[in-house]
Amino acid sequence: MGCNRSCGLLTVAIIGAVLAILGGILIPVGNHFVEKTIKKETVIENGTTIYSNWIVPGSPVYRQFWFFDVQNPEDVMENGSAPILQQKGPYTYMVRYLPKENITEHEDATVSYLLPNIALFQPDMSVGSENDTFTIVNLAVVAAPTLFPSMVQIMDLLMQSSKSKFLQTRTVKEILWGYEDPFLKLIKIPSIDKVVGVFYPHNETYDGPYRIYTGKDDIKKAGIIHSYQYNRTVNYWEGHCGMVNGTDGSSFPPFVSKDDKLYMFSSDICRSAYGIFDSEQTVKDILLYRFSVPEAITAAPSVNPDNICFCTDKEISDNCTTGGIIDISSCKEGNRGKMGGFGTINLCGLV
Ligand SMILES: *[C@@H]1O[C@H](CO)[C@@H](O)[C@H](O)[C@H]1NC(C)=O
Ligand SMILES: *[C@@H]1O[C@H](CO)[C@@H](O)[C@H](O)[C@H]1NC(C)=O
Ligand SMILES: *[C@@H]1O[C@H](CO)[C@@H](O)[C@H](O)[C@H]1NC(C)=O
Ligand SMILES: *[C@@H]1O[C@H](CO)[C@@H](O)[C@H](O)[C@H]1NC(C)=O
Ligand SMILES: *[C@@H]1O[C@H](CO)[C@@H](O)[C@H](O)[C@H]1NC(C)=O
Ligand SMILES: *[C@@H]1O[C@H](CO)[C@@H](O)[C@H](O)[C@H]1NC(C)=O
Ligand SMILES: *[C@@H]1O[C@H](CO)[C@@H](O)[C@H](O)[C@H]1NC(C)=O
Ligand SMILES: *[C@@H]1O[C@H](CO)[C@@H](O)[C@H](O)[C@H]1NC(C)=O
Repeated sequence: MGCNRSCGLLTVAIIGAVLAILGGILIPVGNHFVEKTIKKETVIENGTTIYSNWIVPGSPVYRQFWFFDVQNPEDVMENGSAPILQQKGPYTYMVRYLPKENITEHEDATVSYLLPNIALFQPDMSVGSENDTFTIVNLAVVAAPTLFPSMVQIMDLLMQSSKSKFLQTRTVKEILWGYEDPFLKLIKIPSIDKVVGVFYPHNETYDGPYRIYTGKDDIKKAGIIHSYQYNRTVNYWEGHCGMVNGTDGSSFPPFVSKDDKLYMFSSDICRSAYGIFDSEQTVKDILLYRFSVPEAITAAPSVNPDNICFCTDKEISDNCTTGGIIDISSCKEGNRGKMGGFGTINLCGLV
């Protein structure tokens, strides 16, 4: 028996209906199943899929630096002229590739750990070598008056005898990770560390302890920091600026929507920040959302009033009208009682 046109239409309709029903069933079942699996496997505890990826991030984490080179150092030092700056970078380091240490699970669905600090130079992702030199401010000379206010005259003499100037030329490696300073070497106080550098000391030190939610009781909290160094706040900034918000940046809770603000805390810049939805990306046919840190994060308080508590020096910031930079000196100086550095951190987009 042949099939006429209306039979054909009927078949199509039935198949269509079946598909529609299958689709109708499959999607919610699929979602429910996927959702359940995600909820189970993204809890940060021994045995879940995410756990080993959490101990050591499965994909490399890089940190990049740009430097401002003073082009007219003599003119600046002799005549007090405005510096002519040339930006150069990036100089890229791979970080966070060591496993977290002292992982301790707690009763209240939290886990604490230490992040080992490590940085490995990546020549192929950098504009030059770690031996490239830059003329920048002399960290020790600039910091001395604040650190030893009662000894300004002695400091002046020591600076002269060590031929230390306000500007100095140093390699990338020295500026970031530390060098022995000739001027500090002359200060015969044993408790003063003679090594300076923006991130000194780094290797073989630890960041933390961090204590984060595992997500076991509420998956929306997985990875969110419960406390950093046993505290909910950092004391470098007043009020909401000192709040420790979000995750440590290496992971975020699942089920992100485009309207979310993804908060993270970075001890390198001593503060929390957030990413907002930037664009859709496709990787291996999987749709992804790219979040990036908005300019508002470091905008001048006159543009974004929320940032008023990040403005710590009214003179340098022209009464809080300067944007795009954050002054992390108070946080770096307090660094384990050692003199640290000064930095202008360029917040890079986060993928
Ligand atoms: C996870 O649990 C297994 C079995 O209980 C244990 O052998 C392993 O050491 C644990 N891993 C970590 C990182 O604690
Ligand atoms: C300082 O200024 C004087 C006068 O303008 C100029 O002749 C001299 O070259 C400047 N010094 C340097 C190091 O540029
Ligand atoms: C890790 O824990 C062990 C044992 O509790 C302790 O001895 C060690 O000092 C801790 N490591 C760090 C870096 O605090
Ligand atoms: C840190 O230690 C690693 C491994 O030992 C080494 O390769 C790297 O060069 C060190 N980085 C610095 C900045 O000293
Ligand atoms: C950088 O300088 C060090 C010490 O002088 C040297 O061993 C190293 O080979 C240099 N690296 C490059 C890439 O030039
Ligand atoms: C936590 O930080 C606040 C504000 O900086 C400070 O007053 C408090 O003493 C700190 N608490 C602990 C336990 O360190
Ligand atoms: C921390 O989060 C709160 C909202 O929960 C916000 O008001 C505050 O500005 C945030 N602070 C920082 C430094 O991101
Ligand atoms: C900042 O404001 C004060 C008072 O309004 C004013 O006296 C001072 O000149 C201002 N400083 C700068 C750098 O604009």
